[in-house]
Amino acid sequence: MGAAPRGTNRRTDADPAASIGTPTAALLPDVRTPVLVVDESILETNLRAMADLAREAEVDLRPHWKTHKCPELARRQLELGAVGGTVATAEEAEIFLAAGFEDLLIATPIVDSHGIERLLARRGAAALTVLVESEEGARRWSDAAARAGTAVPVILEIDVGMGRTGVPPGEGALSLARTIADDERLELAGVMTHAGHAYGASSPREIASIGRAEGETLVRTAGAIRAAGIGCRTVSVGSTPTVPHSARVPGVTEIRPGNYAFHDAIQVGLGVAPEERCALTVLATVIARPVPDRVVLDCGSKALSTDAGVGGGVVEGFGRVLGHPDLVIRRLSEEHGILAVPPSMPLAVGDRVRILPNHACVVVNLHERMVRIRDGAPAGEWRVAARRGASGAHDRRTTGAAPPGAAAERAGP
Ligand SMILES: Cc1ncc(COP(=O)(O)O)c(C=O)c1O
Repeated sequence: MGAAPRGTNRRTDADPAASIGTPTAALLPDVRTPVLVVDESILETNLRAMADLAREAEVDLRPHWKTHKCPELARRQLELGAVGGTVATAEEAEIFLAAGFEDLLIATPIVDSHGIERLLARRGAAALTVLVESEEGARRWSDAAARAGTAVPVILEIDVGMGRTGVPPGEGALSLARTIADDERLELAGVMTHAGHAYGASSPREIASIGRAEGETLVRTAGAIRAAGIGCRTVSVGSTPTVPHSARVPGVTEIRPGNYAFHDAIQVGLGVAPEERCALTVLATVIARPVPDRVVLDCGSKALSTDAGVGGGVVEGFGRVLGHPDLVIRRLSEEHGILAVPPSMPLAVGDRVRILPNHACVVVNLHERMVRIRDGAPAGEWRVAARRGASGAHDRRTTGAAPPGAAAERAGP
């Protein structure tokens, strides 16, 4: 820490500011801020803990790679036993395919014909499973597969309460399962769901109950599909808060947590992980302290995002200083993060602090790279290879931009 602003540098034992002690001034002094910092030891602990959970529950682990968008990190998850990966967008799928990954699930409906054709053309020998949750979606994949002279494994999405995409369990699910099973171009791999409403839960007990219901509802749905004579191998659930509960429901075969790799302030607020298990922070510099109770950092909405979580009730503001839950970023402009501080807090222009973001996955997408640290020392960096727009090829048809996948092909490690 540098010198405190004039009149604010007296510490007493009773002063909350006396505990600031965040040793960030010496961290990565040559690196330009704001920058993402990943603590590798914490990351490794998180990856191993989830791999152990999957092993104990005897389910496959298919982590969501939209959290880190990083091939090197995905590889580590596979080394630790993951069967493959989950991605959110066609672009993420293309980038991970180009980087050599061979088993992917796209867990968002892809319905534009151009995107579907590109994916079919690019999957090569990879096992690419796609999500379907509407008759129209099924028809579009089937038509494209017919044009390409191929068949596509699809997973049927069920809505177990989040209220986003997915057919409700029951007759609707069975009817769409029949459509898929009857289509010679589609292969029903199974059913999946994401209990994202757990992020709005008000207690760990409620999270546990949502997790159990997530697993039980999906297992029941798979049972009804099988009872109708339709194969339904995979029963895939998962969010970081719910997997400890849904993974153990008999009949669940796969979990797809993503955020667990890093954790964030929302997970801490939910009671899912302590702050010591948060691997990702934004290193920021104090660029102004115009008045004693306002510290201005160089991380605004372009570096931190405005995400406050689904429920919005478990975090305050837009991020907080690591180790100091009371030091919260109250306002964001594009380039400015406004920290409210006690006037006696010894933070001065030029000091650096680490900010624990509310939602790690969104924040990663805002950055091109993650700087790795091990025991507080720099340990290299990873590129956020699959951040939105990284392939540079999504508007090819209308703009005549770079040839398809030109950047994606370069995205490998
Ligand atoms: C469909 C789907 N599956 C899995 C996940 C992973 O959830 P989490 O990041 O809570 O682990 C998400 C996250 O948004 C998701 O949308």
